[in-house]
Amino acid sequence: MAKGFYISKSLGILAILLGVAAMCTIIALSIVYAQEKNKNVENSSQAPTSPATSPATSPATSPATTVATTVATTLDQSEPWNQYRLPQTLAPESYQVTLRPYLTPNENGLYIFKGSSTVRFICKEPTDVIIIHSKKLNYTTTEGHMVVLRGVGSSEAPAIDRTELVELTEYLVVHLKDSLQAGSLYEMDSEFEGELADDLAGFYRSEYMDGNVKKVLATTQMEATDARKSFPCFDEPAMKATFNITLIHPSNLTALSNMLPKGASVPLTEDPTWNVTEFHTTPVMSTYLLAYIVSEFTCVEEMASNDVLIRIWARPSATRENQGLYALNVTGPILSFYAQHYDTPYPLNKSDQIGLPDFNAGAMENWGLVTYRENSLLFDSLSSSTSNKERVVTVIAHELAHQWFGNLVTIAWWNDLWLNEGFASYVEYLGADYAEPTWNLKDLMVLNEVYSVMAVDALASSHPLSTPAQEVSTPAQISEMFDSISYSKGASVLRMLSNFLTEDLFKKGLASYLHTFAYQSTTYLDLWEHLQKAVDNQTSISLPNTVSAIMDRWILQMGFPLITVDTKTGSISQQHFLLDPDSNVTRPSDFNYLWIVPISSIRNGVEQDSYWLEDTRETQSDLFKTTADEWVLLNLNVTGYYQVNYDEDNWRKIQTQLQTNLLAIPVINRAQVIHDAFDLASAHIVSVTLALNNTLFLIKETEYMPWEAALSSLNKFKLMFDRSEVYGPMQNYLRKQVTPLFQYFKNVTKTWTQRPENLMDQYNEINAISTACSNGLPECKELVSSLFSQWMNNTDNNPIHPNLRSTVYCNAIAQGGEDEWNFAWEQFRKATLVNEADKLRTALACSNQVWILNRYLSYTLNPDLIRKQDATSTIISIANNIIGQSLAWDFIQSNWKKLFQDYGSGSFSFSNLIQGVTRRFSTEFELQQLEQFQENNKDVGFGSATRAMEQALEKTKANIKWVKENKEVVLAWFTENST
Ligand SMILES: *[C@@H]1O[C@H](CO)[C@@H](O)[C@H](O)[C@H]1NC(C)=O
Ligand SMILES: *[C@@H]1O[C@H](CO)[C@@H](O)[C@H](O)[C@H]1NC(C)=O
Ligand SMILES: *[C@@H]1O[C@H](CO)[C@@H](O)[C@H](O)[C@H]1NC(C)=O
Ligand SMILES: [Zn+2]
Repeated sequence: MAKGFYISKSLGILAILLGVAAMCTIIALSIVYAQEKNKNVENSSQAPTSPATSPATSPATSPATTVATTVATTLDQSEPWNQYRLPQTLAPESYQVTLRPYLTPNENGLYIFKGSSTVRFICKEPTDVIIIHSKKLNYTTTEGHMVVLRGVGSSEAPAIDRTELVELTEYLVVHLKDSLQAGSLYEMDSEFEGELADDLAGFYRSEYMDGNVKKVLATTQMEATDARKSFPCFDEPAMKATFNITLIHPSNLTALSNMLPKGASVPLTEDPTWNVTEFHTTPVMSTYLLAYIVSEFTCVEEMASNDVLIRIWARPSATRENQGLYALNVTGPILSFYAQHYDTPYPLNKSDQIGLPDFNAGAMENWGLVTYRENSLLFDSLSSSTSNKERVVTVIAHELAHQWFGNLVTIAWWNDLWLNEGFASYVEYLGADYAEPTWNLKDLMVLNEVYSVMAVDALASSHPLSTPAQEVSTPAQISEMFDSISYSKGASVLRMLSNFLTEDLFKKGLASYLHTFAYQSTTYLDLWEHLQKAVDNQTSISLPNTVSAIMDRWILQMGFPLITVDTKTGSISQQHFLLDPDSNVTRPSDFNYLWIVPISSIRNGVEQDSYWLEDTRETQSDLFKTTADEWVLLNLNVTGYYQVNYDEDNWRKIQTQLQTNLLAIPVINRAQVIHDAFDLASAHIVSVTLALNNTLFLIKETEYMPWEAALSSLNKFKLMFDRSEVYGPMQNYLRKQVTPLFQYFKNVTKTWTQRPENLMDQYNEINAISTACSNGLPECKELVSSLFSQWMNNTDNNPIHPNLRSTVYCNAIAQGGEDEWNFAWEQFRKATLVNEADKLRTALACSNQVWILNRYLSYTLNPDLIRKQDATSTIISIANNIIGQSLAWDFIQSNWKKLFQDYGSGSFSFSNLIQGVTRRFSTEFELQQLEQFQENNKDVGFGSATRAMEQALEKTKANIKWVKENKEVVLAWFTENST
């Protein structure tokens, strides 16, 4: 699955502007982490965004044919059906599955599907019980038992004794009167019904409005453990088989699945308003990659050079508006890039991709039929921004990477999920870079993956990439694997590995791995083995140890090293880096938190020989020893997954270099100097003034990455100080630093009439405007209010480029009054594109009028004005506004009971709410209020926000301490450097 792109670029920019993305604070981190998990996990509790219809809750009477079920009540662990992992006695070979989704409710108000299936399996060890996954299916088989069993060929099947459903472990269990024979084949038939619920799991329904007409479609999300909710199956990734899928569907709708249909759909004999579509047999594959969809969607298509049919499916109106064209244009190049990169042709003869109105994950890599959120596949050239486009190309590249790595060769069990997702999250940058070669997308990995996950991985509560298989058994434990460690740390360490092996050698080992294990399952050790072979077959690269020994330290222990260099002596040392100096690491490591670290470096702008820091705490090398006028800088382009600290002298020389000629230091390392120093200051390893001094060169910087690193690091300062006397001098400093950047982009864009050419310049143009405006540069304020009033004067013609809308809307509303707000509110109500509506909804929180913000807060309790799913994020946006902060806090305190009762279940995220509204808390008074709030609502409780309440208390105390320690020196620094 694609990572839930939890901070979209445009939202991310606005977030910085508003002070949302407090990446360096611990609580903020856990929010990002929780949100990502929420979006990644298909089984999330988040309610689908269906129009306001009451859920089908009316109790249905079970059909007469339903076979009575027994449910295990006591758990005898020794019985195989009480264990979450399947026994190794049986292995599936092929399935025949027919499914018929009903897209209108039955007489009980329930949407259902009916199905029948046959599974053929081989018996590997004699057994008298068949254990197969089955979840929420009612069996309607007409004979005596829930299933019918027969032998294939000469083997004869034993008689069935009894069948039962074990709810806890999600099994259908067939007890036999005699044993199955090892080496024999059997077939088992069943008929069943299931609910076509709107739960985004298994075979489910999605609803959307087409004008005023409600439309229903049926679609699937199997990963990780919901294929079993659609038909009985051996639902583990290593239990690969072939699948013959047949769909029975309303004759005016289209049926899609992993494969192409065998022929035209034919009317169902007994009812010609239904059609039957039979699909070709799939290759040998895992259940979690199955997909089938029945909808009215239409497509744009092309035949790629190698005879692969490429189609992009969407709502008919979106297809008509050409929203699928960008995806269609990049898919062919990305597929051919991977075929070359993997040295393996695309394994299927078609590639369907479909944008679904309601979809919980970012996207899902079902083999040959990839499903997406609309905003991750569709692109509207008139009103989508560049960052929307970047998201589309990177998500497509991620999912298509899985068509080989993950789908053709599959991890044997979910404990190795990091390999599957980390690999795709790494290689997506290569695939997307091939499709958009001028965007420098590969550089963005440092900000998007490396730095974002380091912020989580530097906490004492982090965990290693790899988890022992026996610790991952239940569906909940499997869901937990889908976190930012698996995705982003996985990507970061694989990038490091590819870098020290060289991309070429990495590709050789990778191709050998894919050739060897096609249609099979592996563990990460298999990849190491094939990379090792590639290393052994050449002589130009030599490693200090085996691939496996080096990588063990990165994947079997959590965290990463801080490398400290003393340039007076050339001493180099490593220690486990922790952001919070008071935290205690309780998790033991077999490697004592030491790593084998590839060290690249530059001396006065010149690259030096590479170096390995092996497994020791401290050693010495002349590579890192300097004379008086020399500096060194480690981790060139941040290809290594570690941070770096130097003696103060070297830091000072780096600062001088940056301020005199910054081009001597590569752009990614200019971002690194800022990022690492602020992290080190949080950890009390360097002084906060050293970190601040590292931002002085920005006055001459025009590149995106260093600015982005600085703005996200400084955001903590903004949150802590924007209500104190520090804020004036801080704004003066930022205004001084950003003014040349603002003028630079004014020139480049011919006074804001054109967009800069490349992607990162476009992003930095947004940073320039948002930073200049929010720190009071008069010219910027005039710019945004003039753009906004042009729009107000001619509503049908929005002159604001989509890239700039978030920041222009927010700043214009902040500077404006009731008229501006009301206009934006009207546009929000009229917006048909969700991207546009979201930008406006967030910007409405930027007002600086207390009464307007209070009125907006009250709207969040009225679902006719602000949809329930948007209430939390709207309140949080208001709290991010310095004026809205205390209003939102008052609002939550006085409405807690109502919020809890009305929104207690469903999409309302109380933990995000508590975290969002308390983010600025840093005084004794706020701590007391928080404690009082907790006390006052003891009876109502905090439900899913219980942990967030505890964290907010803890974080507030830490903030009080941080402000106490740093306020004076930060005030003095900003005062001194603001003129
Ligand atoms: C699926 O179809 C293939 C090709 O016709 C056939 O060989 C296989 O036996 C079928 N599987 C089942 C379970 O019927
Ligand atoms: C399955 O049976 C249960 C229990 O009788 C019932 O509540 C449920 O609605 C049934 N599901 C379907 C899809 O008929
Ligand atoms: C398909 O037919 C059904 C019933 O005849 C109708 O309600 C529905 O609107 C039709 N859908 C499309 C896309 O034409
Ligand atoms: Zn993925």
